[in-house]
Amino acid sequence: MIPVAAKAVDHLAHPGTGAGVVPRHVAIIMDGNGRWAKKRFLPRLAGHRAGVEAVRRVSRAARAMGIEALTLYAFSSENWRRPAEEIGDLMGLLRRFIRSDLDELASENVRLRIIGDYRRFAPDLVAMVDDAVARTAANTGPLLAIALNYGAQGELAAVARRLAERALAGELDPAAISPDLIDRELDTHDLPPLDLLIRTSGEQRLSNFLLWQAAYAELLFVDTLWPDFTEAALADAVAAFGLRQRRFGGL
Ligand code: FPP
Repeated sequence: MIPVAAKAVDHLAHPGTGAGVVPRHVAIIMDGNGRWAKKRFLPRLAGHRAGVEAVRRVSRAARAMGIEALTLYAFSSENWRRPAEEIGDLMGLLRRFIRSDLDELASENVRLRIIGDYRRFAPDLVAMVDDAVARTAANTGPLLAIALNYGAQGELAAVARRLAERALAGELDPAAISPDLIDRELDTHDLPPLDLLIRTSGEQRLSNFLLWQAAYAELLFVDTLWPDFTEAALADAVAAFGLRQRRFGGL
C-alpha cells in the first residue's frame, strides 16, 4: 500500500487545480477584527460584530460558488487568554449568530459542524450548539464547520490518547496506526480534504489551526482585515487557488 494519508489519496483522485477549479474545502483564520475596530476608534466588540457580518457574507458566497465545506476559526483554545469581557462578547455573538442565522442555514440545506472542545463552554451555549447541529444533521448540502475552543495540538493529543486507550484495552494493534486511521479520528473526519487555508490581516502563521489537515493544503495569506473580506475577496482567493500547481509529493 502507498504510505500516504487517505485524504491525500483522495486529493490524487481530485481534478486538482486549474483556472475555474473550485476548492472542495476552504478554511479561514479570520484575523484582524481588533485592528479593524482600532482603525475606526471603535471598541473591539465592534470589530467582532463586523466579523460576524463577514462570516455571513463569506459563507453565503462559498455556498454560491459550490465550495463543499467551509471551516471557520471562531475561537481557539488559546483565546481563553483574552480578557473575560472579550470572551463574553465572543460567546454572546455566537449565541446571537445561532439565533439569527440557524433558520437560513437549515433552509439552505447546510450541514453545521463543530470542531474543537466546545463542551467547555457555558452549558446553555453547549445546548444551543448541540441543538443547532442536530437541526441540520439530516441536511445533505454544503458543510459549515465552526471551530470552537479548537487547537490542532489538543485535537491530535486527544486522538493519541484515544488510540493509546484502545491499544491498552487490546482493541487496537499499534502497528495498525496509520495516517488514514488518525485522519478518521480527527474532529474533521467527515469533512472533505482541506484544499485551501486562508488567513486574513497579513499575519503569516497557522496559530494551531488544522495542522494535520493542512499537510497538502494551499496556504493563502491576504492583508485584508477579516471584517473587510468580501465575496470578491473569496472569489480572488479561489482564483489564486486555481493558479497553484498541486503535486502532493509527485512531479
Ligand atoms: C481574530 O481577530 C478574530 C477572533 C479571535 C474571533 C473571530 C470571531 C468572529 C469573526 C465572530 C464570531 C464568529 C461566529 C461564527 C459567530 P482579532 O481579535 O485577533 O484581531 P486583531 O488581531 O486585529 O486584534
